[in-house]
Amino acid sequence: MPLSTITGIGHYVPKNIVTNKDLMEVMETSDEWIRERSGIEERRYIDRTKETTTSLAVEASLNAIKDAGIDKNDIDFIIFATLSPDYYFPGAGVLLQRELGIAGTEIAALDIRAQCSGFVYGLATADNFIKAGTYKKILLVGAEVHSVGLDFTTRGRNVSVLFGDGAGAVIVEATEDESHAVLATSMHSDGTYAEKLAYMYPGAHGGYFLDKYAIEGFDVDYNLENTPYGGVFWNQDMLDKARIFPHMEGQAVFKMAVTKFPEVIKETLEKAGLGVEDLDMLIPHQANLRINQFVQKLMGLRDDQVHNNIQKYGNTTAATIPICLNEAYREGRIKKGDTVVLAAFGAGFTWAAAVLKW
Ligand code: ACO
Repeated sequence: MPLSTITGIGHYVPKNIVTNKDLMEVMETSDEWIRERSGIEERRYIDRTKETTTSLAVEASLNAIKDAGIDKNDIDFIIFATLSPDYYFPGAGVLLQRELGIAGTEIAALDIRAQCSGFVYGLATADNFIKAGTYKKILLVGAEVHSVGLDFTTRGRNVSVLFGDGAGAVIVEATEDESHAVLATSMHSDGTYAEKLAYMYPGAHGGYFLDKYAIEGFDVDYNLENTPYGGVFWNQDMLDKARIFPHMEGQAVFKMAVTKFPEVIKETLEKAGLGVEDLDMLIPHQANLRINQFVQKLMGLRDDQVHNNIQKYGNTTAATIPICLNEAYREGRIKKGDTVVLAAFGAGFTWAAAVLKW
């Protein structure tokens, strides 16, 4: 049975740097609050006149394709993890295929909607398609644009200061070489917590879920009389309560994340026949430096065994792991033969991990 391995990696972030001080110009916040709670110092935002989620993904993909030394026309499958696709539909995968100039290959393009866990879900998917013998050269991308969908008033500051834009990509190929391969993957979810971290607008839920789960005392207007078969149900009450922006119960996310990270890391190492003592480098999702420091301490890992870069980019959801992995590799923090663990936790809740020999 073939194994899968990463043969090329690249990332791309927009040039435009937005510091904590810049955000203080548009909302009541402080550099100190943001750094202390999240570790974030700055993030990147796109130039809305010429960049989108897909365009960031194109740049990251071209870097990964070049790094792998392959011809883009030889890619046989695209997996695109994002929670901020350019269109509601069609998905981001087909847009990437077109913008890369490989639509003529007619290869399949799959979108993954697993939020911050999207890239690791994508790697698990690529790994299994390769093991099944279906594909041999997969382009896997995580890319996000958050800056166009955040509430930049003081009301939304608990969420908006945390997120940034960026993209990372890898080429996953078939190999027989166990010493440079994906050894194990795990994926999990628990939908009980769906509304703890969610962006419910525009959505296709017709208001029912808002009534049932989301918001106490929320006046949902189904607008049945005026438009019996559809129509806008987002009334002023909903807009005032800001449910047209991402909503997060930060402490619930924190609690669950620090529990699930160690669990899924240990589970996946065990599947690979390894233990925490074998781990050379952990690349955790970059949601919050405090979460990662908490997990590092819980697991007894040294500073040289964990790579973080949220300070520079904020949380780029599905893009954090490939960006962080690429930086750790380029900075020489990951060497050939190292046991590398990728671990993610995000909205859904979803969580996942992968163990690879680099
Ligand atoms: N600047 C200044 N003050 C702020 C800001 C801000 N940006 N945001 C919130 N505050 C204020 C609040 O208004 C509140 O003030 P009050 O006490 O006067 O009412 C106070 O700070 C505390 O607000 P909380 O929302 O309770 O803040 P908390 O202490 O929970 O910290 C944080 C927020 C950092 C998000 C924390 O909950 C956390 O680390 N959660 C983990 C979740 C996370 O990091 N998610 C990232 C994305 S999710 C993912 O990728 C998995």
